[in-house]
Amino acid sequence: MKKILVTGGCGYIGAHTIVDLIENGFEPICVDNNSRSTPVLLEGIEKITGKKVKNYKVDLCSFDETHAVFQENSNIEGIIHFAAYKVVGESVHEPLLYFENNLLSLINILKCVKEFQVPYFIFSSSCTVYGNPDEIPVTESTPPKPAESPYGYTKQMGEQIVSETTKTIFAQSILLRYFNPVGAHPSAFIGEMPLGKPENLVPAITQTAIGKLPQMKVYGNDYPTRDGSCVRDYIHVCDIAHAHTLALQYLIDHKNKSRCEVFNLGTGNGVTVLEAIKAFEKVSEVKLNYVIGPRRQGDVVAVYADNKLAREKLGWNIQYSLEDMMSTAWKWELKLKEDETMHNNPNFQMN
Ligand code: WQD
Repeated sequence: MKKILVTGGCGYIGAHTIVDLIENGFEPICVDNNSRSTPVLLEGIEKITGKKVKNYKVDLCSFDETHAVFQENSNIEGIIHFAAYKVVGESVHEPLLYFENNLLSLINILKCVKEFQVPYFIFSSSCTVYGNPDEIPVTESTPPKPAESPYGYTKQMGEQIVSETTKTIFAQSILLRYFNPVGAHPSAFIGEMPLGKPENLVPAITQTAIGKLPQMKVYGNDYPTRDGSCVRDYIHVCDIAHAHTLALQYLIDHKNKSRCEVFNLGTGNGVTVLEAIKAFEKVSEVKLNYVIGPRRQGDVVAVYADNKLAREKLGWNIQYSLEDMMSTAWKWELKLKEDETMHNNPNFQMN
């Protein structure tokens, strides 16, 4: 089986991608220092796939630690690089933390890709590179605008670093620009585990609905959109995960026309915040306790994808609807509460 290194594999998208890789015959190994994640999702991966995935708890900002992983795993066929900090607000207050962590880790990985002649490299990028686009939907050739945050700059710079580097080394690469990944694996064995108060919309919705948060704020309903709230392209995390497997296979089958290709990973549908809340209320039958608050700094008014390239070139077909995104997110939140209740129950026997 082809060994695939998944950095940030204990994270939300990383864990779902590991499941998809296993289900498609690859042998993923995980590299994650668990600074923003816990290995608990690896247990969920094992429950879903029956496979125990090894995690190297390594700081990718240390070249020596990173290099050691490649020395121990000589036959790495491909790399999917998720590992990065991604909290937009935090990046505004801590730019150097974000530039150092997100770029130094990428550079160390690419130095090893070069030395060990790894043939395929996939970079986790983001629609954030488009900033506030003049026209929507955005295509892969929509010119990037100034990023809205240092986090966004690390994705723009990361794309440049990958693109320029793979012109000179053995590897072929793909940049995947995620829109808004949401939802959870249908089994509810893995899902999103925000650290602290959730920044993102869907975990804020589900944590409010389950009572973890007292109330949710909609950040503005005075935007120039159909209902005044911001428009985003919410995409199920399992659809995102499968796109990584397809992108890897695309490179393995030498279907790529250039050494570094870009693909938008979105549904192509724009959904407002208020519409997302309505979809959640419909599938969960829970009335969400929210108020309209002031706009959030750095928010893009509206962005959604033209996903034609990924559909046609990668053979990517979206499987999950907005209702599926909300129902799987809710099922995961309910499972987290059930596990918490069990672990707090003195009669609970660890199995
Ligand atoms: C979506 C909408 C908020 C929370 C994220 C990541 C970014 C990138 C793209 C990975 C906005 C509104 C949110 C809340 C709200 N992902 N909202 N109340 O900002 O599009 O960006 O996805 O690269 O890293 O940050 O997603 O979920 O934070 O916000 O009204 O409590 O929901 O204002 O309009 P965003 P988000």
